[in-house]
Amino acid sequence: MADIHPATATPILAEPQVIRRADYRPPDWWVKTVALEFDLDLSATKVSATLEIERNGEHDRPLRLDCDGVLPLTLTIDGMAANWRHEGDQIAIDISAPTATVHLTTTIAPDTNTQLMGLFASNGMLCTQCEAEGFRRIIPFVDRPDNMAVYEVLLRADKTRFPVLLANGALVDSGDLEDGRHYARWHDPHPKPSYLFALVAGDLVATRDHFTTRSGAPVDLAIYVRAGDEGRTAHAMQALKASMAWDERVYGLEYDLPVFNIVAVSDFNMGAMENKGLNIFNSRYILADPDTATDYDYDAIEGVVAHEYFHNWSGNRVTCRDWFQLSLKEGFTVYRDQCFSADMGSEAVKRIEDVRMLRATQFPEDAGPLAHPIRPDSYMEISNFYTSTIYNKGAEVIRMMATMAGPERFRAGSDLYFQRHDGEAATCEQFVRAMEDGAGLDLGQFRHWYEQAGTPQVQARLEHDADSATATLHLRQRFSPTPGQPDKPLMPIPLRTALIDRDMKAHRGEQLVMLAQAEQSVTFTGFARPPVLSINRGFSAPVTMDVARRSGDLLFLVRHDDDPFARYEALQQLVIDRLIADIGEEGAASERAAGLEDIVSVFGDLVSDQRLDDSMRTEILSLPTEAFLGEQMLIVRPEAIHSARRALRKAIGTRLLDQWRIVHERASAVHYSLSREARGARKIKSLALGYIASSEAPDAGKIAFAQFASADNMTDRQGAMMVLASMAGDERESALDSFYNRYQGNALVIDKWFSLQTSSAHPKVYEQTLELIQHKDFTLTNPNRVRALYWPFVSNQAEFHHASGRGYRLLTDLVLRLDPVNPQTTARFIAPLGRWRRFDEARAAMMRGCLEQILAQPGLSKDTTEQVMKSLE
Ligand code: ARG
Ligand code: ZN
Repeated sequence: MADIHPATATPILAEPQVIRRADYRPPDWWVKTVALEFDLDLSATKVSATLEIERNGEHDRPLRLDCDGVLPLTLTIDGMAANWRHEGDQIAIDISAPTATVHLTTTIAPDTNTQLMGLFASNGMLCTQCEAEGFRRIIPFVDRPDNMAVYEVLLRADKTRFPVLLANGALVDSGDLEDGRHYARWHDPHPKPSYLFALVAGDLVATRDHFTTRSGAPVDLAIYVRAGDEGRTAHAMQALKASMAWDERVYGLEYDLPVFNIVAVSDFNMGAMENKGLNIFNSRYILADPDTATDYDYDAIEGVVAHEYFHNWSGNRVTCRDWFQLSLKEGFTVYRDQCFSADMGSEAVKRIEDVRMLRATQFPEDAGPLAHPIRPDSYMEISNFYTSTIYNKGAEVIRMMATMAGPERFRAGSDLYFQRHDGEAATCEQFVRAMEDGAGLDLGQFRHWYEQAGTPQVQARLEHDADSATATLHLRQRFSPTPGQPDKPLMPIPLRTALIDRDMKAHRGEQLVMLAQAEQSVTFTGFARPPVLSINRGFSAPVTMDVARRSGDLLFLVRHDDDPFARYEALQQLVIDRLIADIGEEGAASERAAGLEDIVSVFGDLVSDQRLDDSMRTEILSLPTEAFLGEQMLIVRPEAIHSARRALRKAIGTRLLDQWRIVHERASAVHYSLSREARGARKIKSLALGYIASSEAPDAGKIAFAQFASADNMTDRQGAMMVLASMAGDERESALDSFYNRYQGNALVIDKWFSLQTSSAHPKVYEQTLELIQHKDFTLTNPNRVRALYWPFVSNQAEFHHASGRGYRLLTDLVLRLDPVNPQTTARFIAPLGRWRRFDEARAAMMRGCLEQILAQPGLSKDTTEQVMKSLE
């Protein structure tokens, strides 16, 4: 890999080391117990650690401790001062006894920790993030997930500045010290890896509640936020209690400590973190009230709270042996939180949302230079592997096992898994084996889902024979090469399938067809007339489907399929085929494309279809994004996609204008509540408003402004704002100003204000984005703000891929400025440039040029280097 970069003169000096799954070895020394003491201070926190260690097996290798920016100031072994030496990112200490007590001290500076890994400061409070490798930024340690230890933590701090002192487990002691200081001692009886360690110190306010487990154990619940935010924690608390009850009911899993604490922090690299007994959350996944959070935010909070709670078993009680097994906890936990959210709301809508997310983030990843299996074989920087593949494709892989096993057998498999591996650091292979033994599945061939990257492509064709009254389903699977994997073995692909009778408009029952060979045919009897094929119902397999089906059959499925996902899918396919034809692409899609009349007419039917609730109606009637349309093309043509989609929106808006107006009025009459009906009404209201605006009706701006001005909740306000942000005129400016003034000081809503502008379809969005970068509220040190401004811009395909290359330069500029501040957040922004192979030569050259410019930056982080190198390969 050293010469991957011949085009520039700058040699890559210290190339990041590649870590391989095959090289796994247990640690030479175990740390069995950890006693930590912290004298907390924003700029100089003193840390002391006492580690009881034990030699693992017969060897004379030294104790090696991982360090990232910290070194011991003092170090003793069994009370005697000891020497240590550097070995790469570790320090090594020779020890002759089989067990020893290691004592070390160090000092760290949380307030200069802009990476937000380890111990860092946020608005005057202190908190930690240790997954994956943050603990080594606090003290030198055997910082790997298979080293599980019991922790006791003593926190000391100034009582006025840090009245709240929290760590994992339960509080065992607390009291006052001299000089206005106080202390708190926490003990966590469950052995855990260092990535689950956490502490928090700050001036925080708690919302409290209680939960009693099924076996009668009381649990004190608390959510800690900054003063002033305590009125926005109710929804998160409710989600927590619902999650606790759900895990008992559905998986038989109970909580295992007397306290469960959650802390919200506004500077955070990711969504949230499942530290044992002390979850730390990005405040955006905790704080909500109707005035500041959308219905979508409410759902995201419920999902993330559940996700982190579920990790207590799938992640903490059974953790990962090494980071290659990350999907063991993440894929499974995402699957669990998806099922939970489906149970709390609408299963159909949740499935559509999850599939849309998978297609928007994971499919492109799997088709590009950063593709990797859900259990990767190698990495340079593990932070780069908290990906949609590990999480979302990982969840799909678990879901396929659940589909194949059925609910009872799947539960038997999960019971066996938790029973066998409780208290252990396990592997994906062990999960699969527990599923085989517990659920009675043969997963021999299925293991390939863990091994290979890339989205399988399935071709399906239904052949009818009138003489024998049979319908034969012909299936084929294909794979495209991905980095390091030119050829791939065949995979078992579970396809929920139904054949629908054209007259009865019904089927005789669904079948699970397992496609396991390269080509396979299944014959169904008793079909005098050709039925309509409904396949991959509920998106039972994470594949792309190419089904030979005429547009008439798709229209039939939109109207009559009893699987809600399949209905959604059929209309999406109709729209995609139509747009691909409009764009002027040749191929099967264009040939079978339905006429505009048919599409408009089916939209018209669905707007008032009584069988649909408004939430599902909105899903079905939303057009695919420009980016998703780009995914359907070999070479993406941003301008053509943009104008074709815009024209179709305009046609649907104009032709159905009266209906959209009626829907908008009907939905506007529904009062605010969190009921399903009221939420559905808000969803369809803003969709209708969008179509009214697309029709360019002269009063569209007025209607949008009226929705904005009269809104008594954020869903309506933001829905109107999104429409206004793309329009020209005074209404836009005055709405944006009033939105800003109203919410100045509320960071989460100001994030929305940034996103609304950079995601808009306004012709001047680029210029507006440049201005926003200079805005006094923009800062590189808050990841939420950075993402709020840049991510919608980068996802705005026509803008980011502007032919001049200005979008690429805007992103490159961000990467170069942000990398020294926060490499983990920076590295996430490389993927959009890495998609250069999918664009025309001129764009591809500019995108590559940007990647090369980034790679030439002296001191570029390991995180960003890995992503750029892979993107250029
Ligand atoms: N385990 C956390 C979660 O998914 C996320 C931690 C992400 N860590 C990271 N280095 N990106 O619930
Ligand atoms: Zn997780």
